[in-house]
Amino acid sequence: MFFAFFRGQKIILKDPTPMNNHLTRRHFIQTAAASAVALSARTGPNVFAADAAKPALLGGKPAHTGGWPKWPDWRQQWEPEIVEILRSGRWSRAGGGGKVPTFEAEWAKLLGAKKALATSSGTTALITSLYAAGVDAGDEVIVAPYTFIATYNAVLIQKALPVFADTDPETLTMCPKSIESRITERTKAILPVHIYGMPCYMDEINAIARKHKLAVVEDACQAWLAEYKGRKCGTVGDLGCFSFQNSKHIPSGEGGAITGMNEKLVDKCHSYHNCGRSFGTNTGSGAFTRGNNFRMQHFQASILLSQIEKLKKETAHRQANADYLIAGLNQIGGVAPARLPENSRAAWHLFPIRYDAAQFNGLPKGRFIQAMGKEGIPCGGGYHEQYNDGIFDEVINSTGYKRLWSADRLKAYRESFKDLKGNAQVCATTVGLSQTLLLADRSAMDHILDAIRKIKAHSAELAKKA
Ligand SMILES: Cc1ncc(COP(=O)(O)O)c(C=O)c1O
Repeated sequence: MFFAFFRGQKIILKDPTPMNNHLTRRHFIQTAAASAVALSARTGPNVFAADAAKPALLGGKPAHTGGWPKWPDWRQQWEPEIVEILRSGRWSRAGGGGKVPTFEAEWAKLLGAKKALATSSGTTALITSLYAAGVDAGDEVIVAPYTFIATYNAVLIQKALPVFADTDPETLTMCPKSIESRITERTKAILPVHIYGMPCYMDEINAIARKHKLAVVEDACQAWLAEYKGRKCGTVGDLGCFSFQNSKHIPSGEGGAITGMNEKLVDKCHSYHNCGRSFGTNTGSGAFTRGNNFRMQHFQASILLSQIEKLKKETAHRQANADYLIAGLNQIGGVAPARLPENSRAAWHLFPIRYDAAQFNGLPKGRFIQAMGKEGIPCGGGYHEQYNDGIFDEVINSTGYKRLWSADRLKAYRESFKDLKGNAQVCATTVGLSQTLLLADRSAMDHILDAIRKIKAHSAELAKKA
């Protein structure tokens, strides 16, 4: 079926016939224009424009009706290798060889890291890295608060205290200026998060870490192939952690990886993730360090290896669409994109929009999200202020934490969450488009921008009816 777009409306021109298949491009454009004029004459330009411009929440036509790419997305040609592994009976990496070490070598090469270690998840990559960075019970770690809850939990599992730096409302990442005032004699590491795949201000963070002799563990769980000043995220601090969970850009159901430029540190991680056994430069007899079983299986590594080229192509596709959206959003106003460090490329796990309700006649964020949903464009509200959930009441009232910190320190710690003003603002104003939207074609990006323009033009009416 041939169709064209006229004032945001999809117009069906003709069913394909053998003759239509030979239409030249010029002939096609002429036909489209003629049909559009005919349709305009039939409906009257005002009726047509009014209908097209009305938000779907107020009875207009949705800006996007075609659906969005499904995720995860697999290929039939990946199947024989999975069956081969199944039939081999060698599913665990414990015996040596197999797909897991191959994936580790490929992942390190792709990122320009000295070494990579595959793990069972992003969470276990973080736990392992914090151990290797020397974080122990009673220590403190400076953490980005705007993140998935696993970042907090990885610190808590070490019986260390996650001390939150503030979030920069323009970048949505850890504000380097807020770090130093939070460092105490117990601080061991800084844990910045490249949230939504947007690189943090790593030069500033690394400089503070060097000054205070702290380790830097990058949470790059959403930042596969993101770049900071020409280097891949996950290779800029001491260790970098990735997630390959089902929703991620390179998924294996569950799975994770650690990358680093220091071989000894990654070998230390290897020992910890393999029950404390000796590995590479990290030698000893038997299980000579603390450890855990955080090993990846060969099935997961096989699926990951199959997706490396796909990840590269899709990252470029998401980035091109994100660039287009950024240019469009900057023209609309009130829906600003986040600021990235110079010479950086984001991976865009979510594409965040900094929504300013004041420029939408006070239309609340929730109502804006609802209106976008009606336009056929699913959005989310991003992370909330998770430190105000019960988790930290449980932490500071636990026997272990009461043994490790004074009552005064824990009380002041709990109260300090009120100072996270930048983070509170980010939680209140961020609207996120999922990564699958960025995998659609360019016309779908126009639909996203059209939807926002319509909602803005009718925001007073939408706000009244809220
Ligand atoms: C920022 C961040 N950190 C850590 C994790 C934990 O990864 P996993 O779910 O693989 O344990 C995730 C996963 O969603 C994440 O998004």
